[in-house]
Amino acid sequence: AAEIAELAPPSQAGVAGAAATRLLTVLFASETGNSKTLAKALVDKAAAQGIQARLADMAEYKTRGLKDEQDLLVITSTHGEGDAPQTAVGFFEFLESRKAPKLPQLRFAVLALGDSTYEKYCEAGKRVDRRLEELGAQRLADRVDCDVDYEDAADAWISTVIADLAPAAQAPVSAPVAATALSGAPSLAAFDKKHPFQAAVIDNIVLTGRGSTKETRHIELSLADSGLIYQPGDALGVVPRNDPALVDAILEKLSLSADAPVTVKQGTISLGEALSGTFEITALTPRFLDLWAEITGSDELQALRAPDQKEARAAFQHNHHILDVVGRFPAPGIDAAKFVAGLRPLQPRLYSIASSLAAAPDEAHLTVSTVRYTLHDLPRTGVASGYLAARTEADATVPVYIQSNDHFHLPDDDVPILMIGAGTGVAPYRAFMQEREARGASGRSWLFFGERNFRSDFLYQVEWQELIKNGVLSRLDLAFSRDAAPKTYVQDRLRRQGRDVYAWLEEGAYIYVCGDSAHMAPDVHAALTEIVAEHGGLDRDEAGAYLSALQRDRRYRLDVY
Ligand code: 2AM
Repeated sequence: AAEIAELAPPSQAGVAGAAATRLLTVLFASETGNSKTLAKALVDKAAAQGIQARLADMAEYKTRGLKDEQDLLVITSTHGEGDAPQTAVGFFEFLESRKAPKLPQLRFAVLALGDSTYEKYCEAGKRVDRRLEELGAQRLADRVDCDVDYEDAADAWISTVIADLAPAAQAPVSAPVAATALSGAPSLAAFDKKHPFQAAVIDNIVLTGRGSTKETRHIELSLADSGLIYQPGDALGVVPRNDPALVDAILEKLSLSADAPVTVKQGTISLGEALSGTFEITALTPRFLDLWAEITGSDELQALRAPDQKEARAAFQHNHHILDVVGRFPAPGIDAAKFVAGLRPLQPRLYSIASSLAAAPDEAHLTVSTVRYTLHDLPRTGVASGYLAARTEADATVPVYIQSNDHFHLPDDDVPILMIGAGTGVAPYRAFMQEREARGASGRSWLFFGERNFRSDFLYQVEWQELIKNGVLSRLDLAFSRDAAPKTYVQDRLRRQGRDVYAWLEEGAYIYVCGDSAHMAPDVHAALTEIVAEHGGLDRDEAGAYLSALQRDRRYRLDVY
């Protein structure tokens, strides 16, 4: 059901009454939940000012209502290379099509969330902002683009738009408590990315067998006494720390002491702590590159800043971490404050939870592939996967919080589900099957799983076989890509089973796709399109429309990264 927040209290008689003459809609499009959280906060703050506001998810927004909107605040993240969040593709298509109505009655403002390491930074927000203006709407406030550390910029934008919307003479309604109470019960989960729960590591084992080309781990964390709860399909936010060896290597290259004090948002801490727990110190960002070009005056780095050097710059960023840059381009005498000014805050990483509370009370399990590679002859590890892989001591803990993922929850117990997952993308399906087994759900389920080699990479093999035996899992199709040439992928298995896949869809099955967003998800989509065309007797466009309708009805769901 659409999420509509309660309207602001029509209390404080005249004051709120005056503000209630225009309707405010806060429209969000979220990829991982940040836009949604901000949109909810905005609605609450508006309510506290006596402004009537309704919360709407682009995934479910009825576009024909757009022409009746009065004030529209849009908060959207960007997906991949400048795309809309997947749930908002339909809305974007409509808005950017010729069908979109002229909107002279509308006042609007846009908050864009993004990641500045991508070329098309905040592009989805830019697109909405541009298009609403084209359609004749009036901009209430300038668009603000926020990077991964979006909190402060977002708060400032929220204050600005609320000030713009609140009638000038109006004092704040002096009942913020009432407003909070009205906008829903306070969150049960007291833990979030800023205040994570220290979860004890119960188990941390390598799932992949001997000879595997990968190291994929099964990690069990205890949520005991946290009050944290989740649904299958939700994600766990992991707040990592950087590799101590990398911190030492950078300090050595800079000839700086770990004890040097630096002032960060949280106060004054040691440089060692800042590099361990506060800042990202691996990937090279444009901001760091700019800073380092300036500090060192290096011609090579300066040259990369030219507008026509975009490709060279991207390649350089790809092939160099911060460690490599500070090693190759020394900055003698640099002080700690100047160095950290080029860094951005360390971000939590999200992992699909691989367990169900019904089967593993007070626990959250993760399936994590450790990212390991060599760059310039030095071994490197992914920030969070390396951090998790190293948490093997008996008393290890991991700071975590729950990130709910409404778009990837299970349907009713009797609905058939098709689960497509490559690699660690299988994680949420383990949660689904645990949940369905515990609930005695009657709906059929069919798993398509792909990995490299049968012998070493058949993640949770014994569990799937058990689930087949006891009938919780109805069908299992496997694609081991490196056991034989030519490669077989999950989409090849789907095609081979096309007739039955189509029959399941016609019988109301939900499709879930989890894993790589760059190649796997589009390839699976292409295979599904072919299947629907062939077995439904449709042409390509009609088959595309069939799948779009499934997406709109939320029967075709993606959790890709
Ligand atoms: P590969 O690495 O042998 O190419 C998990 O990583 C599995 O997903 C592996 O078997 C991997 O195969 C496979 N994979 C890689 N690209 C894919 C794609 N475009 N579609 C589906 N599976 C893919």
